[in-house]
Amino acid sequence: MNQLRSVKGMHDVLPEETPRWHFLENTYRDLVGLYGYREIRTPVLEPLELFVRGIGEATDIVEKEMYAFEDKGGDRLALRPEGTASVIRAFVQHGLHAQEPVSKLYYIGPMFRRERPAKGRFRQFYQAGAELIGAAEPIADAEIIDMAASFLKALGIADVCVQLSSLGDRESRLAYRGALVEFLEKRKEELCGDCLRRLSVNPLRVLDCKVEACRAVASTAPSVMGYLSADAAAHFAQVRRALERFKTPHEVAPGMVRGLDYYTRTIFEIQGRSEVLGAQATLVGGGRYDGLVSELGGPATPTIGFAFGLERLLLMLGDNAAAATQRAVFVAGVGDGGVDRAHDIARSLRAAGCRAEVVYSAVSLKSQLKRADRIGAIGVVIAGEDEAARGSVTWRDMRDGTQIELPISELTARVEAMQ
Ligand code: HAM
Repeated sequence: MNQLRSVKGMHDVLPEETPRWHFLENTYRDLVGLYGYREIRTPVLEPLELFVRGIGEATDIVEKEMYAFEDKGGDRLALRPEGTASVIRAFVQHGLHAQEPVSKLYYIGPMFRRERPAKGRFRQFYQAGAELIGAAEPIADAEIIDMAASFLKALGIADVCVQLSSLGDRESRLAYRGALVEFLEKRKEELCGDCLRRLSVNPLRVLDCKVEACRAVASTAPSVMGYLSADAAAHFAQVRRALERFKTPHEVAPGMVRGLDYYTRTIFEIQGRSEVLGAQATLVGGGRYDGLVSELGGPATPTIGFAFGLERLLLMLGDNAAAATQRAVFVAGVGDGGVDRAHDIARSLRAAGCRAEVVYSAVSLKSQLKRADRIGAIGVVIAGEDEAARGSVTWRDMRDGTQIELPISELTARVEAMQ
């Protein structure tokens, strides 16, 4: 029979890998908790319209990469390609703005984009993100950027430098759009068919095209940073000043392009390089998106956020992520009723918070000791018939192989002392 396999670009995380995921997720939760972020969980399926409006119709994500379909009831749905639009939808839907002046929300979960799979690029991938809703001040931008950099530091990923740019406000964008169209019109013959269309629909997206010839044109295009309004330029300068104050290393990257349309003012990324990832890979991307809450039907609210790609972080981690699994005890059942006795003892050990494993069928002590060895047990409780008659068990220390008989009432204390 044909063996079924996981969908291309979507991967199982096997038990031996999950401790590293836990390390990553726990470090993230602990860190963002220090800044007052609380978790929000939104569905992976959303109305397609949310992403068309939120991310932008003419973006690669919406045009080419989205898993979108009509369900059996005729509703047009999409697997979320990112978390921000969903978080803001939930924020508006539940009227969170009426509950607190500033909402600090974080999330960890799978996202879906039908991209060409490569190292560090998948069709289902996990993001850990944060959204700061309700603060317009430049120091808010600096705080969240610093939080992203601090997460990498907490993971032991050193020497990170934040790449920073600004897309300006509506006024800056209009001025820039004119200049960009003028530039692109002159280089029209070099652009791909998609970009010729983008030129009239959404010229900024030409800068995001992956076709080599278009990238060459984009690399010489004027930067939006040259067209910032006085207000947007002042905001950007203050963000930089605050980052200097926080001693967060950063540099200005005037040519930075983010793949989503909702950004305004500050945008940022942090790149990482590892042996596995090869070339530079973007570990985190984010920015301000002050128009999205009102676009999705809420009151005008300033917002900024970011999202890390967890698989990329794992590739960077190396062996930093120590797996802190609790050490196990194995309970071996010997003789008549041995399996039942072993399960009784394992249950009482677990009730006291000790990890205890047992077999499910009567097998020889030798093979149970082998199993204990394989799971890395620190000790084996041998629940034999004779000991049971005396109200005791045999305790075998797996580190030196010594065995003693002890009253069953002392077992829990003995195991706890070894943890
Ligand atoms: P993004 O830059 O599209 O931003 O994605 C953020 C991060 O997700 C990337 O830097 C990368 O690490 C990871 N990522 C993206 N696509 C893939 C993929 N196919 N495979 C593996 N990892 C991937 C956003 O999604 C915005 N929502 C970030 C944000 C939050 N902006 C404001 N708030």
